[in-house]
Amino acid sequence: MIEFENVSFRYEKEKPVLDDVSFRISPGSKTGLIGANGAGKSTILKLLCGLEQGSGKITVGGLPVIPENLSAVRRQLGFVMQNSDQQMFMPTVYEDMLFAPLNYGVSREEADRRIDDVLARLNITELKYRHNHRLSGGEKRMAAIAVILANHPEVILMDEPTSALDPANRRMMIRTIRELPQTCLITSHDLDMILDTCETVILLHAGKVRAAGSAETILKDRQLLEECHLELPLSLAGKN
Ligand SMILES: Nc1ncnc2c1ncn2[C@@H]1O[C@H](COP(=O)(O)OP(=O)(O)O)[C@@H](O)[C@H]1O
Ligand SMILES: [Mg+2]
Repeated sequence: MIEFENVSFRYEKEKPVLDDVSFRISPGSKTGLIGANGAGKSTILKLLCGLEQGSGKITVGGLPVIPENLSAVRRQLGFVMQNSDQQMFMPTVYEDMLFAPLNYGVSREEADRRIDDVLARLNITELKYRHNHRLSGGEKRMAAIAVILANHPEVILMDEPTSALDPANRRMMIRTIRELPQTCLITSHDLDMILDTCETVILLHAGKVRAAGSAETILKDRQLLEECHLELPLSLAGKN
């Protein structure tokens, strides 16, 4: 579903962020993209949507991520950004959810059906007509996911979905992610959340993929995590 082949990238004149990175994500799977601050997690998501361009080959659903394909690639992707304020730009949740489907030529009736269905599935129907700027942090994050889901993406990218959420909202977010049927690529340094939601993990360190594979295996490898400046998930600390 997603493939990186020998991808290297640097921001202008800076040192390389990604150095010959390759990985593959299969359809329907949930993958955690982990690594210390600055490891390049958000950069990988930006490269996937074509917001930045590096060398090597990136494909989404078989389509190379190149300028000619960007609109087709982006149609498949739903990007839940770290800061929901950058993503919600209409006055209300409902208007934000309506915007992309109408833009893609979905009828108003069908869009309304999708919206009610997504809100019910996320259990946030009461947020429908609320003003975006009056939502709490947790509500805004859930609304941002609703906006993305209303567009029926095949792949969902989430950048630090639990950052700055209180424990109750964090639990709700974990439940929501677990129930998503789509292929998901989730960046986080909340390794407990990754363990709870993802079967596969890609660990970035020093510009390289340091490990990729079973979330349980990688997330309980204390030595490996410490080499990459990460700590064992709390739920596994003390068990080995
Ligand atoms: N727009 C930018 N211009 C220059 N450097 C950047 C930019 N965005 C990120 N970086 C740098 O690139 C590296 C990787 O950043 P990022 O992908 O955001 O890391 P992560 O999401 O893993 O914390 C960091 O060293 C960061 O400072
Ligand atoms: Mg980041």
